[in-house]
Amino acid sequence: MTDNKLKIPENVAIIMDGNGRWATSKGLSRIEGHKAGEQSVVTTARKASDLGIKALTLYAFSTENWKRPPDEVEFLMHFNAEILGMRVTEFHSRNMKIRFLGRRDPLPDMLLRKMDDSTELTRNNTGMKLNIALNYGARAELVDAMREIAVQVRNGDLEPGEIEEETISSHLYAPDLSHYDLMIRTAGEMRISNFLLWELAYTELYVTDTLWPDFRGENLEEAIDVFNQRVRKYGDVVE
Ligand code: IPE
Ligand code: IPE
Ligand code: MG
Repeated sequence: MTDNKLKIPENVAIIMDGNGRWATSKGLSRIEGHKAGEQSVVTTARKASDLGIKALTLYAFSTENWKRPPDEVEFLMHFNAEILGMRVTEFHSRNMKIRFLGRRDPLPDMLLRKMDDSTELTRNNTGMKLNIALNYGARAELVDAMREIAVQVRNGDLEPGEIEEETISSHLYAPDLSHYDLMIRTAGEMRISNFLLWELAYTELYVTDTLWPDFRGENLEEAIDVFNQRVRKYGDVVE
């Protein structure tokens, strides 16, 4: 249980995995697992905001998830739009600032509209940044950053030798989030699955076997407890 002396990580990212396994283990269709995961999104966002986490980034759909069966992809596009429609008022009332990370193309217009409406409604909010990674791939993010930088070089606005780590960070989808303190993955897989490759350089990783639809505030607190036991060294020697 989190006590008041615990250090709260500022920027937290979550790979929300295991919806399919949750459903299959109950004899349900994979889609039922995604539906059940919605409650975890809402309770985790509330808890993160209550704890004082500054930014929460949730991996909702990867650039590789288009490979899934068409009916699952179709469901996820509509369901994400529906969740935004249903929950944005509450997120707004909690002063959260919503933003989306990822490529817009080929997301459907009805989803893009809900995304834009959510971003617009919460634009001036000053509470927790709630970032939703939708059609997100870390390699695509780096390719997009490189393309922008290449244009600056071609136009003579930047010398190749002037490209620093900060240059790349400033061209990410969320330039203010070039670093995360804690990354949580549910459902036990020990891999990154193309999430935040640049931003995770010195992030503490926490993998739990809990499946995403079972993830609740206590699970977030548990992850923060473990985070507090880590010695962050950043390559230095810590006595
Ligand atoms: C995560 O759960 C949700 C998305 C990737 C959209 P999965 O659907 O990947 O669940 P598993 O990994 O099949 O159990
Ligand atoms: C990562 O989960 C993507 C999201 C949670 C949105 P996946 O289920 O797609 O990852 P893999 O396929 O197990 O690596
Ligand atoms: Mg999965």
